[in-house]
Amino acid sequence: MTLSFEGQVALVTGAGAGLGRAYAIDLARRGAKVVVNDLGGDPFGVGENRSAAQKVVDEIKEMGGDAVANYNSVADYDGGFNMVKTAIDTYGRLDVVICNAGILRDVAFHNMSEDDWDKVFAVHIKGSFTVLRAAWPVFRQQSYGRVVLTTSSSGIWGQFGQANYGAAKTAMLGLMNVLKQEGAKYNVNVNTVAPVAGTRLTQTVMPQEMVDRLKPELVAPAVVYMVSKECQDSGLVIEAGAGNFSRAVMVKGPGVQPGIEDPKDAEWCQANWDQITSLEGAQPMWRSGQTLKDYLASKAKA
Ligand SMILES: NC(=O)c1ccc[n+]([C@@H]2O[C@H](COP(=O)([O-])OP(=O)(O)OC[C@H]3O[C@@H](n4cnc5c(N)ncnc54)[C@H](O)[C@@H]3O)[C@@H](O)[C@H]2O)c1
Repeated sequence: MTLSFEGQVALVTGAGAGLGRAYAIDLARRGAKVVVNDLGGDPFGVGENRSAAQKVVDEIKEMGGDAVANYNSVADYDGGFNMVKTAIDTYGRLDVVICNAGILRDVAFHNMSEDDWDKVFAVHIKGSFTVLRAAWPVFRQQSYGRVVLTTSSSGIWGQFGQANYGAAKTAMLGLMNVLKQEGAKYNVNVNTVAPVAGTRLTQTVMPQEMVDRLKPELVAPAVVYMVSKECQDSGLVIEAGAGNFSRAVMVKGPGVQPGIEDPKDAEWCQANWDQITSLEGAQPMWRSGQTLKDYLASKAKA
């Protein structure tokens, strides 16, 4: 069945290039009215240029779609509210938010400056907060919302030279894990994509031939499905790139539970390390309180 976004409004941050552009165009093709946000700076977060967002709006209009540009920075608290206001003032509603805007400041940790750290956190994690903080009351009021956050394999698995970026991208998982719970009652689903694509950002680390082959359009299908009304999942992390899609998940192993009544020492942990660290029978968790519940249950069993 065709996934349609007729009658829906989507806000895509950082949609003036790369992955965000591919999401915005696919959504518009499927009938969504799109707020194309982009500050238009360089890959390192320097400068501003309105032409990035405007070009994508023009492209969407040329193909018969409907879109409006927004040039605010996601790192600016009022900017997040302006983006949502643009959606409401122009189209009267907001159904979808894709937090995609991003920059890189790669450098080995021993050379990382405070500015490298702060700028990356401002765009990725604060930049998701500002937009979602503004969209959240709209979603709650209409009992509907679809969100996709953007993490990275660097955040999930780690990558040399990206302490700032990896930490900010892992923070997306924390944000998702809380919002999936706060949104559940209001039919607001929050999922996360870990993309791989040839873009301006990856041009700084990939050979051109690879950049050319890894089209952002090969990532878009997973993101577009996750923000559709048909997708009922929340709290998933999907890795997508080069036409491949898979779920990444944090799991907890069964461990060992001597419990409160039988406290152990470091030597006992050393002796039992293989069992403590075993992932045989490991399971994903839905919320943090589950850990405490399991601990207290293990005490009751002891
Ligand atoms: N390309 C990949 O392989 C890859 C891998 C993992 C994660 N990501 C993430 O995917 C997202 C998109 O990246 P991309 O590869 O398409 O890069 P890109 O540079 O092509 O696009 C990012 C866009 O975000 C915009 N932007 C930057 N700071 C902004 C701000 N403060 N406010 C508004 N817009 C801003 C930029 O102007 C740019 O157009 C990023 O969050 C990135 O970290 C990309």
